Amino acid sequence: MVVIEEAPKVVKENIFSLEQEVERLYSKLGKLGWSKSACESIAPFTLKINTIKKEKGIKIFAHSYQTADIVFGIADIVGDSLALAKKATTVKEDTILFCGVDFMAESVKILSPEKTVIVPERGRDCTLADSIIADDVRKLKIENPGVPVICYVNTNADVKAESDICCTSANAKRIIEKVNTDTVIFIPDENMGKNLAKITGKTIITWPGYCRTHDAVTLKRLNALLKDKDVKTFAHLECKPEIIENVDYYGGTSDMHKYAEEGANGEKVLYVTEQGFIDRMKVEYPNVEFVDSKMFCVSMKRNDLISTLNALENPTEDNIIELEEDIRKRAYRAVNNMLKY
Ligand code: 13P
Repeated sequence: MVVIEEAPKVVKENIFSLEQEVERLYSKLGKLGWSKSACESIAPFTLKINTIKKEKGIKIFAHSYQTADIVFGIADIVGDSLALAKKATTVKEDTILFCGVDFMAESVKILSPEKTVIVPERGRDCTLADSIIADDVRKLKIENPGVPVICYVNTNADVKAESDICCTSANAKRIIEKVNTDTVIFIPDENMGKNLAKITGKTIITWPGYCRTHDAVTLKRLNALLKDKDVKTFAHLECKPEIIENVDYYGGTSDMHKYAEEGANGEKVLYVTEQGFIDRMKVEYPNVEFVDSKMFCVSMKRNDLISTLNALENPTEDNIIELEEDIRKRAYRAVNNMLKY
């Protein structure tokens, strides 16, 4: 059965606000090719979400991979996973609605247990987070005594609880370089572990996990995206080593953002990463010509305006992040250590 969600009714007194909302949305989304009527169709939803979040004193956080209607329509804070985790520790609001994937919302809960953390949809199928469980980490530690465990943010809380320090694409290199051993265990992204071994010169014990969105890029696909010769290429560290070896730059999401902000004026740039981030860059840096990657993270794309509105109005048990206190406390050490880098 197909269920059609009706747009929220806008009362007469709010018609003016609705027109303003359409203009506000169009000023951003128009840069991505959205028509005025497409903005008209979502404006009742964004208006209602923005009204309710203010009434209830809720801040909406969105990862840059979210769709543009979320990023530009309803989010208060947009960023990569490290920036969002850091920001969550400083906002005064007691409730955060997190448009991203579960493990990112869990990081907020690990750091700020007193806050209520709501997710519109559960992203239960991240290939990285699903690739490893706490028992696997315990075995790795027994096999490699004394070797520090660095876990990527794309892991569940019980895996973080077994790790020494957590990292994101923004600080993984810095953390591996700072750790005072020549060998580290890096879980669970094998591509990133191999790439960072080459970059840092350290011995990295990896785990066979991968991000299906970034791992799917092959050299053939990269070349197909590069129609123009004068395009600068910049790949996320979750891509295969053969991709990292064949691009102009590599790094995390925050490095890509910095490049758009500081170095790319007037250039054509292909970011080999999720399309949501590229859409965000297109709106924020119109002086750069961004090539579409057409890479989509289905786990991130589960959230939409309707599920966000429902979770905001009537959050169910499924929408609220809860963690066992023992796991949360043990994971706190690794996640809190991450914030120092
Ligand atoms: P960032 O840490 O770069 O925000 O990315 C998380 C992620 O899921 C990358 O695929």
